[in-house]
Amino acid sequence: MADEKINRRDFIKKGVVIGFGITGLGVLNACGANAGDLKSKKITSVSTMKNNEIMNFTYKNEKGILVKFNDKFYAYKNKCTHKGGPVDKFSNNEIVCKWHDAKFEPATGKHLSGPGQGMLEKINIKIKDGAVWLA
Ligand code: FES
Repeated sequence: MADEKINRRDFIKKGVVIGFGITGLGVLNACGANAGDLKSKKITSVSTMKNNEIMNFTYKNEKGILVKFNDKFYAYKNKCTHKGGPVDKFSNNEIVCKWHDAKFEPATGKHLSGPGQGMLEKINIKIKDGAVWLA
């Protein structure tokens, strides 16, 4: 019969490995994350949004908008190029800032009219397994 005694050194090694594993999981839980969140974050299911609709979401402690336009999805920071107002309104095929009515092209984020200029800041997304994910 094999000797199954564990010597003191092996016992300490195993304890340290288990301790680090438990501590790592605790840190991830404290951050509100799990291993899957570190790779990509699901924003929503593809089927939950209608065309010409905007949905708010948060990422990296910032606010984003997801736009469904002509059956395609686009994501931008929810921050107007004028004075940072919310751009989470959709009207007449345009993204509209609620503060001073600047308008942006949904497929590109390009400024169309009103105060401000330039482009809405794009957020990279991907469609996978019937859902929209941060890329
Ligand atoms: S902050 Fe958006 S138009 Fe002024």
